[in-house]
Amino acid sequence: MILVTGAAGFIGANFVLDWFTQSDEPVINLDKLTYAGNMQSLASLKGKPNHIFVHGDIGDRALLQRLLAEHKPRAVVNFAAESHVDRSIHGPEDFIQTNVVGTFHLLESVRTHWGSLDTEAKAAFRFLHVSTDEVYGTLGPADAPFTETTPFAPNSPYSASKASSDHLVRAYHHTYGLPVLTTNCSNNYGPYHFPEKLIPLMIVNALAGKPLPVYGDGMQVRDWLFVKDHCSAIRRVLEAGVPGETYNVGGWNEKPNIEIVNTVCALLNEMSPRRDGKAYADQITYVTDRPGHDRRYAIDASKIHRELGWRPAETFETGIRKTVRWYLDNQPWVQQVQSGEYRQWMDQQYGNKA
Ligand code: NAD
Ligand code: DAU
Repeated sequence: MILVTGAAGFIGANFVLDWFTQSDEPVINLDKLTYAGNMQSLASLKGKPNHIFVHGDIGDRALLQRLLAEHKPRAVVNFAAESHVDRSIHGPEDFIQTNVVGTFHLLESVRTHWGSLDTEAKAAFRFLHVSTDEVYGTLGPADAPFTETTPFAPNSPYSASKASSDHLVRAYHHTYGLPVLTTNCSNNYGPYHFPEKLIPLMIVNALAGKPLPVYGDGMQVRDWLFVKDHCSAIRRVLEAGVPGETYNVGGWNEKPNIEIVNTVCALLNEMSPRRDGKAYADQITYVTDRPGHDRRYAIDASKIHRELGWRPAETFETGIRKTVRWYLDNQPWVQQVQSGEYRQWMDQQYGNKA
């Protein structure tokens, strides 16, 4: 059995859904169900005895102690986090609470549990921490991509909180010998992505006839990875990663934001044309830039390829087509996530940006 935290969110839900296509090993899913957690994403697992959902916080030591003692998982995979950079700029506190303090409580609980195991179980146990390329800061156009030895230089409250958690995870290995693994991944996209993030926001707004808000000049570069490929990388690291090591995960897919938005528009023109015959790109609106906006991220994923044999299965062209198709085919999911809280966020973030 494994314990997965934050698996009602975008990547965690994809990870658990994927897990059950390959394995019957049970999963305990611990999630606080913040605005980003969505049980609808896990609806296909309803009634499945191998999926045990627990509504709770990674900062709740009593709950963790009980779950770890009762289920004795062989591994913990930590996805739970506040994940949206723009929200971290408006209100950093939740990011410190969950990403830093929450990870600390989780590590402490896991350390106690791990200390109680026999020698064999101790050696086999893993704590896998899911992190981001944003801990490395920003790159210039000619800089080499981030490697695992690039110094941390986080620029937003979000990335600073993730960098802090990465440091704690590292320290628990160095000091206590906890068998930890860390993955630092680039931008994910795919099914069940909450429409506050660039790609799903563009799809949802385009179909609703709303403006497509591009920050600044739209020339910021991200390295895009289809979410299922991130899930396969995490499975591979869990299976064969060396405790104490970190692994960069990326898609070899650097693209400026405006190109991403134009690609989404072109696919929608083809798959769901506007009734007035005009192009979705007509809805693109340049808006005030994100404060402290990182210009470029790029991941050198050669270590995970070389040492663990992982490579993404999707190209950007195949992944983005599947993603747009998924949103068109899953309108009830899209409508359900656009709750009152979502509308409030959209007003706060975009109300006076244009
Ligand atoms: P998400 O915001 O979609 O989901 C986060 C999940 O964590 C939600 O289900 C939420 O309810 C849960 N959660 C939040 N606080 C919690 C707490 N205190 N206790 C328990 N559960 C809590 O995030 P995501 O995009 O799926 O990202 C998952 C992880 O992957 C994060 O750690 C993020 O930093 C990392 N990551 C994300 C990306 C990306 O492109 N989305 C890329 C690299 C790394
Ligand atoms: O790099 C990995 C990170 O990718 C993860 O750690 C984060 O959890 C995840 O949210 C993502 O962060 P970004 O800030 O890169 O993702 P986001 O989708 O918010 O923005 C992608 C780019 O698009 C970024 O340059 C900002 C820009 N953008 C975003 C939004 C929401 C726009 O131009 N307009 C928008 O409305």
